[in-house]
Amino acid sequence: MRKTFHLIAAARPNFMKIAPLYHALNAARDWAEPVVVHTGQHYDANMSDAFFADLRLPAPDHNLEIGSGSHAEQTAGVMIAYERLCLAARPDWVIVVGDVNSTLACGLVAKKLCLNLAHLEAGLRSRDRTMPEEINRLATDAISDLLWTPSEDADDNLRAEGVAAERIVRVGNIMIDSYELVRDRIAEQAMAAKLGLAGQGFGVVTLHRPSNVDHRETLAQIVASLCTVAATLRLVFVVHPRTRKRLEDFGLMPQIAAAAGITIVEPIGYIEFMSLVQESQLVITDSGGVQEETTYLDIPCLTLRDTTERPITISQGTNRLVIPADLERSVGAALDGDWPRSRCPALWDGHTAGRVVASLRQVCGV
Ligand code: UD1
Ligand code: UDP
Repeated sequence: MRKTFHLIAAARPNFMKIAPLYHALNAARDWAEPVVVHTGQHYDANMSDAFFADLRLPAPDHNLEIGSGSHAEQTAGVMIAYERLCLAARPDWVIVVGDVNSTLACGLVAKKLCLNLAHLEAGLRSRDRTMPEEINRLATDAISDLLWTPSEDADDNLRAEGVAAERIVRVGNIMIDSYELVRDRIAEQAMAAKLGLAGQGFGVVTLHRPSNVDHRETLAQIVASLCTVAATLRLVFVVHPRTRKRLEDFGLMPQIAAAAGITIVEPIGYIEFMSLVQESQLVITDSGGVQEETTYLDIPCLTLRDTTERPITISQGTNRLVIPADLERSVGAALDGDWPRSRCPALWDGHTAGRVVASLRQVCGV
């Protein structure tokens, strides 16, 4: 009998982790039935639909349409709706990815209903428990039956927390599978030219961590630093909806929109975004996924954070943690070529989905 796998998609960084796995399971339809469950945590067309189109995902089989809210509202809303879905038709496995609120919510529902739970991108730790994602990672990993990790540091973290070795399977970085899946379309995209930046050096900026954007003083300091940097390097600031709202609420939007050398754009789809990053001189970010993509593409990444749950992007990649006061100096170093080059980490090879499917075959006995 075919096994049913719920693939939980919720927010922007989930779609590029689900897509390669969906395609790999869809190619194994003799024994596997992938079911895409969208919780609706992200819902704007440019935060959700664009990724289904770019990554050739079918429309979700189910959309829980939970939307935005406080942590409790969002987590509880997903739990109530997802429990209803699972009770109506129990899947054989629930597969959650990453570290967003929906990851934890669906994981909790699965285990309370005694369903099998697997976590893809398990074991990452920033050790900063003020970060909502760190709570989601710790709690999801504590209850998962199968933990698919991207790197050795993740295995070490899980073992140190007492996770049995037989539950940990190192599969590599699924984000790279998505890049390789659409590599040709990224190469054809020429996003910089579309923005009138062909042949010009520029940096890409993305920010959305609450610790950077939710407090006026911090965000004002970051905006000031970006304006200084823009005097030497044009910046394309791709503004996340959380950040747009804060810039507007704090009255900072006029300053950044008027800054010479800064181009403000709405969030863009995966293919357009990867094209832009690929053509850039450097990236300034607080994103988790972008730290990895820049290491894969060997582009300097200046991460405006105190910690990272992805230390391999520092030890083997192009990532450096930077404070706003050091941004200008760091940008100068990157532009001068005084920046580490990437040694592509092991298992960042575009074949992670295949290893996940092999792991599922083993546990399902098929
Ligand atoms: C969420 C994840 C974060 C992830 C990020 C990726 C949690 C706790 N946070 O943060 O880990 O890095 O997604 O982008 O799960 N909004 C819209 N349109 C949308 C979605 C959101 O306008 O389609 C606005 C709403 O005002 C909302 C705010 O953005 O309140 C924040 O959205 P939310 O999903 O709660 O958190 P993110 O900051 O997006
Ligand atoms: N991304 C995108 N368009 C954008 C910004 C980001 O396609 O305008 C992609 C990016 O390439 C990466 C993912 O979104 O694959 C990361 O999502 P995000 O930064 O929102 O979340 P995080 O990784 O920090 O959880």
